[in-house]
Amino acid sequence: MTSDKWSIEKRAPLRNDSVLKEENVPEIGCLSIVVLGASGDLAKKKTFPALFNLYRQGFLQSHEVYIFGYARTKISDEELRDRIRGYLVPSKNTVEGHEEDLTNFLQLIKYVCGSYDTEEGYQLLDKEISEHEIYRNCTEGSSRRLFYLALPPSVYPPVCKMIRKCCMNKSDLGGWTRIVVEKPFGRDLESAEQLSNQIGELFEEPQIYRIDHYLGKELVQNLLVLRFANRFFMPLWNRDNIDNIQIVFREDFGTDGRGGYFDQYGIIRDIIQNHLLQVLCLVAMEKPVSLKPEHIRDEKVKVLQSVVPIKDEEVVLGQYDGYLEDPTVPDGSYTPTFATMVLRIHNERWEGVPFILKAGKALNSRKAEIRVQFKDVPGDIFKSKKQGRNEFVIRLQPSEAMYMKLTVKQPGLKMSTVQSEMDLSYGQRYQDVTIPEAYERLILDTIRGDQQHFVRRDELKAAWEIFTPLLHRIDKGEFKSLPYKPGSRGPEESG
Ligand code: NDP
Ligand code: BG6
Repeated sequence: MTSDKWSIEKRAPLRNDSVLKEENVPEIGCLSIVVLGASGDLAKKKTFPALFNLYRQGFLQSHEVYIFGYARTKISDEELRDRIRGYLVPSKNTVEGHEEDLTNFLQLIKYVCGSYDTEEGYQLLDKEISEHEIYRNCTEGSSRRLFYLALPPSVYPPVCKMIRKCCMNKSDLGGWTRIVVEKPFGRDLESAEQLSNQIGELFEEPQIYRIDHYLGKELVQNLLVLRFANRFFMPLWNRDNIDNIQIVFREDFGTDGRGGYFDQYGIIRDIIQNHLLQVLCLVAMEKPVSLKPEHIRDEKVKVLQSVVPIKDEEVVLGQYDGYLEDPTVPDGSYTPTFATMVLRIHNERWEGVPFILKAGKALNSRKAEIRVQFKDVPGDIFKSKKQGRNEFVIRLQPSEAMYMKLTVKQPGLKMSTVQSEMDLSYGQRYQDVTIPEAYERLILDTIRGDQQHFVRRDELKAAWEIFTPLLHRIDKGEFKSLPYKPGSRGPEESG
């Protein structure tokens, strides 16, 4: 049975039932990818380039795929193609054949103009998709429709309603309809739950792909392997050995023309509640029963549910000087552009170990990394000189790397010690490998029906439960942001 065939009234009651049904769906045949909000920033910068890269690598085949852009802006097919081409101009890293591939790829794109909340546009869209399916002579069970909502979340409910009403996969015999939704998914627990309910009335959980692009990053995906495929780490990864874990995101630019969007959300909703928290889950969770998406997500939810309320005295907020000069930011806004806070996990493995999450815009560098700091060696015999701590660093970006800081004997005749590093820098070790963009992997996962790297509804709820009390206090102006200089490390008080 296809996922679309669940009527709104007769939806499968159990999550596992739904998952089993989706698992048997064929992943071959006619594929229609619809990018809603095709005129926007995300579509241009991320979605279409990711689709192009998938096409180049042979994951999207000309004989079965067609891509539809949908938005209100009145442009022609050619204008949309030109916009996409403009973003994919050859650079010095462009591989041979780029231009020819791009021309062929652009021929697969058609633009449909319509509003987000009335039927006409969607009926037209459905007609175009159906024509493509007929042209491709869709065989049984092969009609696949993927809707990517590159849109502000405020329009998700009407858009989902219209897709449900007008654009579902029509084949009685198979295929699927899936939707991809972007963050921010809600502003707090209540609004996120409301949005989840609205979408949940229209689509089953296995049809909904809540994207968090950090889950598509190479070294984030590596965390599971690192932790559970290496004997090294198993006995060390706990409160007995680890002093603290820092998960840090820095950007060396400000809101960069997105001030209007950013000001409504702030750094906690933009980065910490989603990207950094997802990383925390993978660092802290227990070993899943298997690699099945549901088993992994079950473990992530348990971690989130074990996080204790954040203490005010363990939070520092900041706003960079000059933020208010952005014309799209309202006067007097106290939205934080920097935040650091301690999350504490109340379980056997992590009791007493602070997880320090830090994120900021307009800082001194662009970097995202996880720093696992180990406790001092007990009964240290090299007391003459204070030893540096063992530290294990996973750099997510830029220049993916993992390195271990450790103490070694200073080479030479003297018996003295020095801090050194065991370094696995991907650029050196995997010179022939091009690391895929996060969006590429995640779009491919949606086509393959793999939800492992997407956020499940209960995960989202648990994530909002952690931050909502603090966010409400910030929104009421009860928690002030401290000023910091652009290009600095953030407010001095953040340490
Ligand atoms: P845009 O502001 O560029 O909006 C995308 C398109 O949606 C616009 O081209 C416009 O199309 C339509 N639109 C904009 N505002 C409204 C509105 N109020 N009502 C109805 N339609 C509207 O957004 P982005 O492309 O930047 O982001 C899309 C989604 O992706 C958002 O949820 C965002 O938070 C998320 N995201 C964006 C990132 C980025 O780098 N841009 C990064 C990560 C997530 P038209 O008027 O032609 O219909
Ligand atoms: C997005 C945020 O989700 O992630 C942006 O909305 C931020 O504010 C971006 O710049 C960072 O992504 P990356 O992959 O460049 O670290």
